[in-house]
Amino acid sequence: MTEERIIRPAKNIYGSLRLPGDKSISHRYGMLAAFAEGTSRFTNFSTGADCASTLGCMEALGARVRRLEDGAIEIEGVGGRVRPTAEALDCGNSGSTMRMISGLLSPQQGSFTLVGDESLSRRPMGRIQKPLELMGARLTLTDGHAPLRIEGGALTAIDYTTPVPSAQVKTCILLAGLQTAGTTTVREAVRTRDHSELALRAFGATVERTLDSVSISGPQRLHAIEAAVPGDLSSAAFFLCAAALFPGSNLVLDALGMNPTRAALLDVLAALGARISVLNLEEKNAELVGTVRISAPAEGLGSTTISGALTAQLIDELPVLAAIGPFTSGGIRIRDARELRVKESDRIALVVKNLRAMGAEVEEFEDGLDVPGGQRLHGATIDSGGDHRIAMAFSVAALRAEGETRIEGAESVAISFPEFFDLLDLVAER
Ligand code: S3P
Repeated sequence: MTEERIIRPAKNIYGSLRLPGDKSISHRYGMLAAFAEGTSRFTNFSTGADCASTLGCMEALGARVRRLEDGAIEIEGVGGRVRPTAEALDCGNSGSTMRMISGLLSPQQGSFTLVGDESLSRRPMGRIQKPLELMGARLTLTDGHAPLRIEGGALTAIDYTTPVPSAQVKTCILLAGLQTAGTTTVREAVRTRDHSELALRAFGATVERTLDSVSISGPQRLHAIEAAVPGDLSSAAFFLCAAALFPGSNLVLDALGMNPTRAALLDVLAALGARISVLNLEEKNAELVGTVRISAPAEGLGSTTISGALTAQLIDELPVLAAIGPFTSGGIRIRDARELRVKESDRIALVVKNLRAMGAEVEEFEDGLDVPGGQRLHGATIDSGGDHRIAMAFSVAALRAEGETRIEGAESVAISFPEFFDLLDLVAER
């Protein structure tokens, strides 16, 4: 069932919000708690459907999940040995679930089948098959994609350099290494988000890091933890970019995850001219959490180019940055972003298509796009392609367009951020 949402232009963005828990951290806390020994407890766990897919798979593998009345969740782990199930594990729309759980399951006894929705069934899984097979795992894909079948069994440690920077692939290998005798090392050219390394340590594992590598020596056991999940910076991105568009805006986001491997957006917005301050920085379970205040420059946003390592660090924020490109003075250029074509949708193609639908000029490249600045957009019908970040990115562009914008496939926001439209209405002054 696809739902439509009408977004009206706004006059300003103003207010203060606390956002639901980070999706990446929630996946990891959920998966590790379900695998650990004992009962973990989390507050502000992600409300998104993707993390519910992770919990659903882990429940099917024997973990117990209880949602408490105060909104917290409790997860009773399987103590290092999952219960094999003949049932297919449904990863829904979530690439993180499928790639990370494959690493967790490959060293376990039993056979497992992983399936996903139509979008996930198109996404490349060869990137986890290769390192897992080097460890001795037996994986069967369907033409490089899900459904994926794992015949679990003991593995051997490897030293692996990821060809494409990916935190999901890194995590997959580390979760297999956790259960494998010897030292497993993952080397990466760009340091991708390090939530797995921090979470593994919080659950009691020893993880060694150098500038460009992460190593884990197995087998190791995990113990339960209690944690508050920091607010999701990638969800915050939509609000930060919206606020950056309105001179006179003032937005405060409280208890937001500020992990340096995730916070590059703040530097980019600052380089574009937004005024950003970070207050109350604290460390919780090795994750930085803080309050971010943003207001837009009176003279409007400038211009920027995103390429190389920065592209990899900003991968989830690129659709919304491209969508606000027309409202900058000098435009936004994005390169080295080929990975965007194999996300929940081909995000380069959909950003280009939807910017053009709103009347913008934009040039498409195989690995990115050029969005010239100084443009006016009009309301249009937006094809989200069922991709949550496309739906939210164009809801932000719609705030500065002339006339109403219709977002098709608006229900997709529930993948990462079910509260998105309600919170947008709270801070958008009309
Ligand atoms: C994620 C890693 C990124 C990102 C995704 C979440 C994670 O994917 O795009 O939304 O939680 O590890 P890749 O690992 O494919 O780069």
